[in-house]
Amino acid sequence: MDDSTPSVASGGHEVSPAWQRLLRAHADGEGWLPFDGFMAQALYAPGMGYYSRGLPVLGQSAGDGSDFVTAPELSPAFAMTLAHQVAQWLQATGVQRVVEFGAGSGALAEGLLRALDLLDVGLASGKLQRYEVVEVSASMRQQQQRRLAKWGQAVQWLDAWPATLEAVVLGNEVLDAMPVKLLQRVDGVWHELGVSCRGAALAWQTRPTELRPPVPVAGAHDYRTELPLQAVAWTRELAQRLQRGVALLVDYGFAQAEFYHPQRHGGTVMCHRAHRADDDPLRDVGSKDITAHVDFTAVALAAQEAGQEVVGYTSQGRFLLNCGLLDVAQTLPLAQRGRALALVHEHEMGELFKVLAFAPAAHQLVWQSMGFAQGDRSHTL
Ligand SMILES: C[S@@+](CC[C@H](N)C(=O)[O-])C[C@H]1O[C@@H](n2cnc3c(N)ncnc32)[C@H](O)[C@@H]1O
Repeated sequence: MDDSTPSVASGGHEVSPAWQRLLRAHADGEGWLPFDGFMAQALYAPGMGYYSRGLPVLGQSAGDGSDFVTAPELSPAFAMTLAHQVAQWLQATGVQRVVEFGAGSGALAEGLLRALDLLDVGLASGKLQRYEVVEVSASMRQQQQRRLAKWGQAVQWLDAWPATLEAVVLGNEVLDAMPVKLLQRVDGVWHELGVSCRGAALAWQTRPTELRPPVPVAGAHDYRTELPLQAVAWTRELAQRLQRGVALLVDYGFAQAEFYHPQRHGGTVMCHRAHRADDDPLRDVGSKDITAHVDFTAVALAAQEAGQEVVGYTSQGRFLLNCGLLDVAQTLPLAQRGRALALVHEHEMGELFKVLAFAPAAHQLVWQSMGFAQGDRSHTL
């Protein structure tokens, strides 16, 4: 086939007339929508996207109507342990705000606000003046506002990026929810994957592209992968604004050498529904989560290019153990300790999930960041 000819790579799934209209409106004249454009609509289209429908997303199990669990939902030990690091950073940098991006159900905010009070650096002490949330989904924002109402005006939702940030900034599983570009090497030629929205059924469609993975992928075998352009742009925005404080990002992912490993030939895009994973984002559009692992090297480089320095990078397990998770777990009822330990066990959330922190003056913080005291892996980025 001629390289310039778009090819329909595989058959697709019917979508409702409303989805057909919406996707076509965002597609080009030939009905082609690049995958990142498709993912943006499938997740965030007002009233229709997965995060915008007002239905439960996060929870413990399919029984509560949720689709997947995150660390703050799994165990209160996550927020209680993270609070130790946040407290240390508030004191070390002198900032008085926490800004959380993508606050989900509000579980992390609620747990942190309680734990920071117990550590005497919270809102009650006056040492923390504001807890601010930036949330793209209107329905998630409403859920958060109900849950955090007890803190009144001290918890605020920001409609736009502040011009400058002096804060401890948090983002748990936010980067993985940002749309990615999909690339595919077929017979040695790189293509961009998109969605053909011409008919009632969606189908994969490739186009030749100049885009390439940031590192060469050894071998000549067919290979599918992602480019996290939006996560990189978002990190750049954050890094350009962060003047004082620290940014902490937690997510599943790898450094680049592992992300673009020749054996990872199917990429990392996954869907979640009712606590089951599948790899077909064109099926049941708007009814399930679509996500990709995070290229932490790309994120760290974006921060660095905007003037930030890496404070640390390690596994979630190592980070939480460094911050005292075992002591925190002891304070929980026996029945809850297993879930607390799942946060750090390597075969559960402990190893796949990573923690990256950056700051405008990291050199002052490296020795004061308990989370990276042992097992820092910044050198692998
Ligand atoms: C996978 S959920 C994680 C929720 C929560 N942080 C947790 O760990 O339970 C992703 C969240 O990030 C939000 N989100 C995605 N992109 C965002 C962005 N650019 N800015 C702020 N929030 C965003 C989504 O609406 C959703 O609330």
